[in-house]
Amino acid sequence: MTKANLNFAELPFSFIPTDYNIRYTFKDGVWDKGVLTQDQTLPMHISATCLHYGQQVFEGLKVYERPDGQAQVFRIDQNSKRMNRGADKILMQQVPEELFIEAVFRVVNANRKFIPPHDAGGAAMYVRPILLGTGVQLGVSPSTEYTFIVFVSPVGPYYKSGFAPVHLIVEEEVDRAAALGVGDIKVAGNYAAGMRATMGAKKKGFSEVLYLDSRHKKYLDESGSSNFFGVTGDNRYVTPSSPSILPSITNMSVQQIAKDKGLAVEPRLVAVEELADFVEAGCCGTAAVISPVGSVTHRDKKFEYCKGETVGPIVTDLYKTLSGIQFGVIEDPYGWTRIVPEGV
Ligand SMILES: Cc1ncc(COP(=O)(O)O)c(C=O)c1O
Repeated sequence: MTKANLNFAELPFSFIPTDYNIRYTFKDGVWDKGVLTQDQTLPMHISATCLHYGQQVFEGLKVYERPDGQAQVFRIDQNSKRMNRGADKILMQQVPEELFIEAVFRVVNANRKFIPPHDAGGAAMYVRPILLGTGVQLGVSPSTEYTFIVFVSPVGPYYKSGFAPVHLIVEEEVDRAAALGVGDIKVAGNYAAGMRATMGAKKKGFSEVLYLDSRHKKYLDESGSSNFFGVTGDNRYVTPSSPSILPSITNMSVQQIAKDKGLAVEPRLVAVEELADFVEAGCCGTAAVISPVGSVTHRDKKFEYCKGETVGPIVTDLYKTLSGIQFGVIEDPYGWTRIVPEGV
């Protein structure tokens, strides 16, 4: 297949238009059959619940081109499950897993020429499913109508610098999510809540913030759009666990890989003082896979986890293994990847 006329090796991590997106509507108790459209705008009622009351959940996953030219997705079932957990929590209609997967396959097939070639420096096709309450309500109550959209965009690596250290600052003035709120689901409001923290950190020269738990301000939570982990000198992979962290599919996968490489894996409460115990650290998420953390600044202390630009051996190995599986370079012993069948 002829690829689109794009400089795939230099793609930014930003929206690039493709030919089609796909939309399904839930009305009168049933999902329709979905329609591919070239329209990139979305007309909706001004009183839709997603606009006023935040009935919105979304997902993010990637399609990777394997060395043999086939396209594959990574743990798509987990994205579907996480979106449905979110839908349940804010009283939205779930999208059946088969429909979620069908939607992704259909829209990927309609835009195949935009899948970055295997050797384009880590570029991939980003897939963004969105579920919206589109029924009309004025009082605060759940919608009876929903729209499920999936669009795609070819993307380059999340950080321009690629696999190079990022620098974090512990955020003490802003909470991204309440302890018993909705931090554990992927709803738009969490990102709006955190934007001022991230922008503030960037102004100070940091890449991102590292949030503390909102109740005690004592334990590490996560970063703005990724989970955090540290590796200790005695080979323990320590990652914060709390009800306000979004369960990262990347982190879940890295934990499995770390275990299989002989590290002790500890998802648990991690006190901020434990930053001093780590010899390496990383942030994980679909966009960046693993971003090596060069340093974390907490008040007047700076904890360093890379020697200059040199990333530690464990973070490097975990990154290479996971991205090798995602791009089909390393055999997938876990059954995490799935070829996108043509003709769906
Ligand atoms: C707040 C937050 N945490 C963690 C992650 C990483 O999750 P995943 O690895 O499933 O992409 C993301 C990205 O989706 C995120 O937005």
